[in-house]
Amino acid sequence: MRVDLLIHSAGQLLTIASPGPKTGPAMSDLGLIEDGALAIKDGRIALVGKSKEVRAQAEAKEELDASGRVVMPGFVDPHTHLVFAGSRADEFEMRLKGATYLEIMAAGGGIMSTVRATRQATVEELLAESWQRVDRMLAYGTTTAEVKTGYGLNMAQELKMLQAIKSLDRTHPVDLVATFLGAHAIPEEYKGRNEEYLDVVVKEMLPQAAQEGACFCDVFCDEGAFTLAQSRRILEAAKAWGLGLKIHADEFKTLGGAALAAELGATSADHLICTPEEELRLLAEAGTVAVLLPGTPFGLGGEHYAPARRMIELGLRVALGTDLNPGTCWCESMQFVIALAARKMGMTPAEAIVASTLNAAYALEKSAEVGSLEVGKKADILILETSDYRDLAYRFGGNLVARVFKGGQSVWPKEVD
Ligand code: NIG
Ligand code: FE
Repeated sequence: MRVDLLIHSAGQLLTIASPGPKTGPAMSDLGLIEDGALAIKDGRIALVGKSKEVRAQAEAKEELDASGRVVMPGFVDPHTHLVFAGSRADEFEMRLKGATYLEIMAAGGGIMSTVRATRQATVEELLAESWQRVDRMLAYGTTTAEVKTGYGLNMAQELKMLQAIKSLDRTHPVDLVATFLGAHAIPEEYKGRNEEYLDVVVKEMLPQAAQEGACFCDVFCDEGAFTLAQSRRILEAAKAWGLGLKIHADEFKTLGGAALAAELGATSADHLICTPEEELRLLAEAGTVAVLLPGTPFGLGGEHYAPARRMIELGLRVALGTDLNPGTCWCESMQFVIALAARKMGMTPAEAIVASTLNAAYALEKSAEVGSLEVGKKADILILETSDYRDLAYRFGGNLVARVFKGGQSVWPKEVD
């Protein structure tokens, strides 16, 4: 077979091959091939196996020797708020002095402060700031990411955010999936008129967002944000418009958002820091992906992390994401999230890698295309500058990604010797 590129002699090739999402003990299986090779043709994976076998079948235009390297699928980051304007470094300092996230939010800061900055920015300014972040995500190995709206909170501004997400998706190598999060906060102009704002979200913004390319609808179901009943109303309407469902549930307080996600067949329920065991079981039964975001409690200096070990025991589909946002977690690196998942949630390096690739692809309904290195999938590939995949969890604060291929194209070059 004639192929475009042959990557061979990988010390550890992590295929993460699987017919479905990985749960329980299967999360420890990375489909690791020693002395592995991949052949790429027309941007897709054409052959995978031992170097000897793949070489025997492939006639390559270009070859890359990956000896002493880990070769693995690009990270999928299933939860980001990457498009925003401005900074909340001042709030960070207030928190260091003892103010809490919920207090700052109740005083009109928090999400609303980023809403003000985002509304003031032109699309071009929003794009320029967001471009730097998505570029950093790529450098750290993310090749597919979800991006939420939710800093516009009126029709024109939410559409501006969607436009920015679509434009980044078109012009930047990272593939982006848009989520409508009109129910992120009650905007100032609707203060005390929550139900009226909900009417606008459900009757006006949601249908428009669905038409403008949003794939998912999310809601911030928590204290100081949206109640369980309000969240239900939004998600039921989104379902009727054909959108996939996501929910920010149990980040601060237990409101029943996880059970709601399971009941409505949501694609994912995210955060899940204080979710009761009964609701975890419902998520496992429903097949709703649990997207865990350990960067957020870390960013807030909190003590409580999602009970990942228990979730894995119960058979949940566990995924990891950054939650990149200016308020709780300005972090572009899935590598850092893996390091945190190991230390703060007891996940093994292998489990954390599966959660950041294949299971994260399920959280975006993109598993047919990305998340593992299997024949027919997109050639979204990382070459690490280490020979041991465990270094992704063991070492932290730097960048182990030496090269990134997106759809078979080299998009993040750094000389591999
Ligand atoms: O996932 N919780 C809601 N949304 C974000 C925070 C957004 C913000 O503070 O700007 C989160 O933590
Ligand atoms: Fe979030």
